[in-house]
Amino acid sequence: MCGIFGMIGDSNTTKLLMQGLKRMEYRGYDSSGICIVDNNEFIRRRAVGELSNLEPLVVNLPNAECGIAHTRWATHGPPTEDNAHPHMSPKLDVAVVHNGIIENEVELRKELSSIDKNIIFKSDTDSEIIAHLLSNEIKNSGLDLKKSKDEEFISCWKKVIDKLEGSFALAVILKGRNDFILFARKFAPLVISHDGNKGILASDVSCIVGITDKVHYLEEGDWGLINKNGLKIFNIDGDLVEKEPKKLEWTLGDAELGGYPTFMLKEIYEQPRVVRDCLRGRLSREKIKGVSIPFNPRLLRIVGCGTAYNAGLLARYYIEQLSKIPVILDHAHEFRYGAPSGPKSLVIGISQSGETADTLAAIQAAHERGYPTLGIVNVESSTIARNVDTMIGIRAGPEIGVASTKAFTGQVLGGLLVAMKLGQDSKNFHREDLSYFDRHARMLPTSIERMLNDQNIKTKLWEAQQYFVDKNHAFFLGRNTSYPIALEGALKLKEISYIHAEGYAGGELKHGPLALVEEGTPIVVIASEGSSHKKLLGNAREVAARGAKVILITHQEDELADSHADLVIKVPRTHDLLQPLLYNIICQLLSLNIAEERGCNVDRPRNLAKSVTVE
Ligand code: AGP
Repeated sequence: MCGIFGMIGDSNTTKLLMQGLKRMEYRGYDSSGICIVDNNEFIRRRAVGELSNLEPLVVNLPNAECGIAHTRWATHGPPTEDNAHPHMSPKLDVAVVHNGIIENEVELRKELSSIDKNIIFKSDTDSEIIAHLLSNEIKNSGLDLKKSKDEEFISCWKKVIDKLEGSFALAVILKGRNDFILFARKFAPLVISHDGNKGILASDVSCIVGITDKVHYLEEGDWGLINKNGLKIFNIDGDLVEKEPKKLEWTLGDAELGGYPTFMLKEIYEQPRVVRDCLRGRLSREKIKGVSIPFNPRLLRIVGCGTAYNAGLLARYYIEQLSKIPVILDHAHEFRYGAPSGPKSLVIGISQSGETADTLAAIQAAHERGYPTLGIVNVESSTIARNVDTMIGIRAGPEIGVASTKAFTGQVLGGLLVAMKLGQDSKNFHREDLSYFDRHARMLPTSIERMLNDQNIKTKLWEAQQYFVDKNHAFFLGRNTSYPIALEGALKLKEISYIHAEGYAGGELKHGPLALVEEGTPIVVIASEGSSHKKLLGNAREVAARGAKVILITHQEDELADSHADLVIKVPRTHDLLQPLLYNIICQLLSLNIAEERGCNVDRPRNLAKSVTVE
């Protein structure tokens, strides 16, 4: 998804705009640009590809006091300089940056063409239309671009916003006016901040941390104007609203590597802290606290995408096991196609960013069906967090690497807390069970730390990595609670190393996938519990008999392991409900090592964005 950034009132605006773009790189992009107001002119620079292509074009620009910037992830039109933002009106009197999709762009293009038959659109994008529209509104209003007061442009801006359908986070500047920026948000996040001297607006807080520590999280439909003295925020009905700023959730340390070579590695190593923070004040030997379930559901629905979906699958196993309540799991983007059936359900939406359009749409569909919703979310100021009826923040801290790692651990723990709460309420999960779990949960961070620093495991990971050299296909197998880890492990490998990796339940092998196994195929088998583990070891023998190279990830007390794999990686033993988390961290490290060996950018894999805010 794209990223927008705007600044006003700081004499270092040009430099800070470039710093902001750098901070937003993790969102994924394929072109970028900035536009500043210098005297009576716009100065715009745009470039395709990495920010390093834009930097030389900006290095000698004046510092300016007002400007906007953008990282584009191409949706309408290829990544070219003409399609890069900021976009301008034909008269070059309006510049706009946009994140989202204008769904009525065709109708608006026709409207503009009917006004001016000779109109020329310089780009393939939907965003450019916004600059045309505002320029026309200003002309029709008779306002003087040089002399009219900033507030006089508000009504023109409102007319433009009212024409737009779809999703948008917008920042707009006018030629020769370094005294204000217009903004609007609808179904695309936008934060805004003002310290009395300078104003900032951004798609996410990563680019403003270190500049300010108070932000306004704009609501759906909010729009307005920010100038050097302050800001005016209007709601969707056009009423001026007073908002109290909130403390920024991020610290400067979160937005930086802190000595690690990649954000992904940093975030893998943050998982002991995530376990502590996520469970803090919620888990005790007597009961689960701080987890409010809106009612006593007889059926649960879980929705999520990607890693969040995989965490939801594990949560499903936990909830059914501990509370005996049935759970239906859907990919969020498929949930809306189902017909509402059965008893009133509690719908649980899982999302790290809290901005995934498909998951937000599923939450909204749930509300339309009269279903209460619970969010398991990392970014507690996000749109999903503010739209659900109740929310569990996983407290993983900002996750910058596109491949989700620590958030998965937090999401699974969030699902476990829900499962134990429901289990307690339904009298299926007793105090002694909880007390036993609590003892292991308190030791889990130390077990993870030991595992992350275990030289023997590092050596085994290096050996395992050799099985993937020059390979383009791999499989991850699991059963029961390790099946979600097989899916997650495969997702991690494919999204950062570009090896085609699939996760399967071991029982599925004979029903087709076994045909794909050939000499040297790397297959990661993730241990399960009880009887399903023995079946999984049987799967390991099956694939080995067909030439596969089997890597078995299991725990230290597994006495059968060594005779069932080419390579065995043993992790500390913990509670059955927590064991999958340790296995998953090994999969994260394995994928990271393989991807780096293949020269891939693990923090910003090709084609992917950190949060998919478009459907
Ligand atoms: C995970 O590694 C992926 N980057 C992706 O699948 C992600 O989990 C998915 O897009 C959901 O994002 P969310 O948790 O922010 O909703």
